[in-house]
This record gives sequence, C-alpha cells and structure tokens, in this order.
Amino acid sequence: MEYNSLGAVVEPLCLWYEENKRSMPWRDNPAPYHVWISEIMLQQTRIEAAKGYYERFLKRLPTIESLADVSEEELLKLWEGLGYYNRARNLHKAAKILVEKYEGNLPADYGLLLELPGVGSYTAGAIASIAYGITAPAVDGNVLRVLMRFMNCRDDISKMSVRKKMERSLLKVIPKEYPGKFNQALMELGEVICIPNGTPACAKCPLTKDCLAKREGTQMELPVKPEKKARRIEKKTVLIIERGNEVGIVQRPREGLLAGMWEFPSLDGYLTLGQIKKYFEESGAEFDAVRKGVTGKHVFSHVEWHMKGFCVILKEKCDNLPIQHIVWAKKEELENRYAVPVAYHVFLRELEQ
Ligand code: ADE
Repeated sequence: MEYNSLGAVVEPLCLWYEENKRSMPWRDNPAPYHVWISEIMLQQTRIEAAKGYYERFLKRLPTIESLADVSEEELLKLWEGLGYYNRARNLHKAAKILVEKYEGNLPADYGLLLELPGVGSYTAGAIASIAYGITAPAVDGNVLRVLMRFMNCRDDISKMSVRKKMERSLLKVIPKEYPGKFNQALMELGEVICIPNGTPACAKCPLTKDCLAKREGTQMELPVKPEKKARRIEKKTVLIIERGNEVGIVQRPREGLLAGMWEFPSLDGYLTLGQIKKYFEESGAEFDAVRKGVTGKHVFSHVEWHMKGFCVILKEKCDNLPIQHIVWAKKEELENRYAVPVAYHVFLRELEQ
C-alpha cells in the first residue's frame, strides 16, 4: 500500500523553494561530510541554534580523518550544549569506519550509508540526495506533518510502518534531476510554513490549493501521534564543592543519560542545609562554609531534573570527603576541558571567580 496523491506536491513545492530557501552554512558547500554533520546536528536542535555549533565543529574538525582522530573528551566538549551526546559518539565511530573502509569518504550509496552508526533512513536519504544527487527519500517529522496534512490522513506517524510507507511513496515522485532540492524543500516548508506548534501559514503555502487538511479545516489536528507519557521528575541536591581555586566534579557512568560527561556531585532528593552539613561532617570533611545556592531545572526527553544547589567551601587541605572518585578541576578547565552538560551550567555561576 502506498500514498498515491503526492505527485501534485513536486512542482509547486520546488518552485516555492527556489524563491524562498533560507541561507544556511551547510548549503553553501554541501560536501557529503558537511551534510552529514549538519543533519546529525539538526536532529533535536533548531537551525538557528545549530549554526554556531556547526561552524565551530568544522573549524576544529574539517575532515572525516580529523573527526576519526579527535579524542572523545574533546569531541564531547565540542558537542557540549547540543545534547543527545550519543549522536557525537556515533559520529566518532562512523568516522573511524569511514577512514578504515572508505578512505575517509562517505559512500555514495544509500544502503552503505545506512550501515553507519547513528545513520538511519532519514540521514542516509539526506546525505545521498543532497550531497550525491541520489534519488532517495529523507522523511523526518517535518515531512510527515506536511504530507499527512496535504492528504488529510490520520495515520499514526509514530509508527515505523507509516514512515516506511511514506518513504516508498515518495520514492515514486522524487524528481530524479534534483532529489536534494525536493527533500530540503519539504523540510523547509514544514519548518517555516506548515509549522508544528501554532497556526500554519496556509495563506503563504504553495500547496494550499490542493491541501486536503486546509480544505477540511483539520490542519491543527494533524498529524496524528499518540499522547506522550508524562516525564518522570527527579529531585536532586547538587553540591558545588570548592577547595582553594578548584572545584570537585565527578564523571557520569559510561552508559545511559549523559554518559561519560562531567558534573557536580549530586544526591537524590532535596536535602536541607543541616543534612548537608551533617553529611560532610560524618566523613570528617572540614569546611569553612556551606550555603544555599541557585536552583535549576532541566528538561530531557523522558525526565526532568529539578535541582537545588548548595555551595560547600572546604578547608584548603581537606581530603576527607563523602564522595568517591572526585576530580579537582580548575575553574577554567570547566570551560575549556571537561564536557559539562547544559543542565549544570546554571551552577557554574556559583563559582567564585
Ligand atoms: N532540517 C534538517 N535538515 C534540513 C535541511 N537540509 N534543510 C532544511 N531543513 C532541514
């Protein structure tokens, strides 16, 4: 089974794109490596926010070889702020494979691209079509939204079967002469006209004449996707422990959320000032002061952290601590060496300069 009415989209969409496409750094020189990096960054990161990261990343790692050779520590630092750090780890793994197997190039083949870590059908399709002119679909959430509205179709877009059906259907209509332009035009329409939150700008849409959701007035109901489960809330007490001009940090486990990144030590739940003093005193830690700090909140896809910060000023020589595996970092090293998740950046302000 396929979606049969998509052919009507091609011409008006591509004409609109020619007139309206936005300037983006990766569009100036769509080398395969550039397309790959930008597409990975743009998953979960807004275009405006990604631009600066993209420029900085390519300045430091201008080639696939340089990406393969960089240390994981430096790579995570470069990625700091973009979130979803497994995307960076997969880029790293894939770059090493590309150097070993493909002389440092991305293969001009949809199926081979799909084999790379972190490359799913969307990314493979984007690289193949934009960088190599290969006729392949690149179906992301924008594309699904635009086309489900165009067809007034209530299929559940969270289902893999629906995505696959859309890919099969698009493959039939993608113009062979400019698949990259067509794919990007669909994404762009979804980003600037047929938007996800808020009222779509149907009056400016090149597809408005044939759009069935517009005809039926169902734009805001589409696309259909199941309600998200409420996020779990985790309460944490964050300890900003200073000793002389250093601050104590710990590394997160190698697996799971924010794997391998550096953070201030934290305890589950909210502790009081008195409980925190006791916690340090019981291990024999000597401190000059313990005081309340700022609070912070960070929203991840499945959890929210609600954090209360406390500053602990240790005596210079204090080595007795209730926390294991603490590493003492100079304040400037938090900026230029250790990758600290954005969730903790609010607490960096606590540090005395
Ligand atoms: N969103 C993600 N990738 C994009 C691209 N190449 N063009 C426009 N929007 C995008």
